[in-house]
Amino acid sequence: MRSHYCGEITSKHLDKDIIICGWIHKRRDHGGVIFLDVRDIKGVCQAVINPDNLKSFEIAETLRNEYVVKISGKVKSRLEGTINKNMTTGEIELVAEEIVILSKAVTPVFPLDDYQDVNEDVRLKNRVLDLRRPEMNQRIVTRSKISSTIRNYLDDNDFHEIETPILTRATPEGARDFILPSRVQSGKFFALPQSPQLFKQLLMMGGLDKYYQIARCFRDEDLRADRQPEFTQIDIEASFIDQEYIMEIGENMIKELVHKFCGDSLDSFPVLNWHDSIRDYGCDKPDLRIPLKLVEISELVKDEEFKVFAEPAKDNNSRVVALKIPGGNSLSRGQIDEYTKFVSKLGAKGLAYIKVNNKNDIENGLQSPILKFLNKETINSLVAELDLNNDDLLFFGAGKASIVNLSMSSLIKKIGDDLNLYSSKWAPCWVINFPMFERNNDGNLTSLHHPFTLPKCTSEELEGSADTALAHAYDIVLNGYEIGGGSLRVFDADMQKIIFNILNISEEEADSKFGFLLKALSSGCPPHGGIAFGLDRIVMLITDTTNIRDVIAFPKTQSATCLLTDAPSKVDDSQLEELKIISTHKED
Ligand code: AMO
Ligand code: AMP
Repeated sequence: MRSHYCGEITSKHLDKDIIICGWIHKRRDHGGVIFLDVRDIKGVCQAVINPDNLKSFEIAETLRNEYVVKISGKVKSRLEGTINKNMTTGEIELVAEEIVILSKAVTPVFPLDDYQDVNEDVRLKNRVLDLRRPEMNQRIVTRSKISSTIRNYLDDNDFHEIETPILTRATPEGARDFILPSRVQSGKFFALPQSPQLFKQLLMMGGLDKYYQIARCFRDEDLRADRQPEFTQIDIEASFIDQEYIMEIGENMIKELVHKFCGDSLDSFPVLNWHDSIRDYGCDKPDLRIPLKLVEISELVKDEEFKVFAEPAKDNNSRVVALKIPGGNSLSRGQIDEYTKFVSKLGAKGLAYIKVNNKNDIENGLQSPILKFLNKETINSLVAELDLNNDDLLFFGAGKASIVNLSMSSLIKKIGDDLNLYSSKWAPCWVINFPMFERNNDGNLTSLHHPFTLPKCTSEELEGSADTALAHAYDIVLNGYEIGGGSLRVFDADMQKIIFNILNISEEEADSKFGFLLKALSSGCPPHGGIAFGLDRIVMLITDTTNIRDVIAFPKTQSATCLLTDAPSKVDDSQLEELKIISTHKED
């Protein structure tokens, strides 16, 4: 239908007869001459319709924005003074000979010819229009190119792309399952995969050696800016390998993507121990672009009379930390109050601070509501240990470790962003040596990754000290986002049973839920391991957005609905009857 893309026509096509197809981006009537900006996926080209071309001129007069047209004509230079050097097509125009309207369009809900910040709900409801916006169009195209780069990279490294089922059993990854009733076997349900974890392990047991899949995963969990209920993993597994192999494959893949799509070369990724990461940043996905660290001060304040500090300082499950903001003295009272509100929403009981005006005069040179509660020696030690300088600001977090970690790590990211403290464009890192388990609120152990992760100790040691056992697990973090995570896997049925036992999964339950895995583990299992990357998050970082919905063609909102199709929706009673399902839901 077309001979060229609109966005690709340049002076090298001068005097050629060409045909373009696309949308009317803008129409301008200039005293008898009509100019059309015609847009397609590659960009915009100007077409000009002279009044002596009567038929085309008549058609051009009826064109409205977003009509779809086919225009044939000759490429000519633009007149001096109308040349636009900022556009690829800015030196030429297409002098139209024939215009065909391929389809008409109603007035768009939001204009595309003039950039406007449109409310996201309106964009999602009108996603077709939204996808036509060049920045959305380009993100989706970049996503496709990233996927094919990944495929080529993994193909070149001897990985095989293998599909795994969507209608399956639950795979525990820590979220709720989306379940689907079976009509043929009423009363029974499929679960959508939270990840292909078990299937990729079974493929290794099946001798397929190296697997990958760009796999859709489904998790019914609370959504955030970087989470979707259905998202895409680059899922990888390999046999007869060690942790270093997977880390190298993963690291080189990210380096190649950042180089190819952003032109940046990354050095070797630093490797952090999980415990150190929690101690220094309060989280296991630190944004290392921000040069701020927590400093443990429990020892220093444990004998103070100030209970806010002394009590958590003496409690094993609590901590007291200081966070130095160099030059932070310039923050106003109002800004400090805002940060206090910010941490209190995350559970913190307050946000004590000290402003340093003159570090050599602790009587008059410091400003803080808590000075009166602390003895002078402690303050002197703080100044020395934190190497405080004039104009610095110190924030303090004290309380249950989980709350201090969550609130202070979030505060680091917020202040880093607010004060633009980023010291580099990219800051990747690995986090390794995760604990095998964590205790949840009811005191039970749960897997930090998933129950198939290989411990770094023997089964006897694991049973003896499950709380402190470490895992052959690794996460990869980029600019504060967890972009991937994986582990070596248990490849012995007895070890797997012991882990189920520690997780309070009875033998019967293990047999009924994971019997197929235990059987396969007993039939000659190669040592194996892998990783899964969050494709959406990677595309988000590469295309420089912080909203995961901007890199997914048809995403869900924060309340897990698709505004375009209005899913989820009710189903006919007859469908429920067929599935033998009765809803107990009551309309509000
Ligand atoms: P994990 O649960 O860490 O590991 O997931 C791997 C990566 O997937 C991305 N991710 C998400 N992205 C968008 N929305 C979500 N709701 C979401 N949840 C996870 C993250 C994360 O790092 N089977 C294991 C992998 C393995 O052990 O090989 C797994 O799924 O970037
Ligand atoms: P209060 O004695 O509760 O008025 O607190 C005195 C100061 O300590 C205030 O600046 C509070 O913001 C701060 N503060 C209170 N609780 C905590 C906490 N758990 N962590 C950090 N600072 C706190």
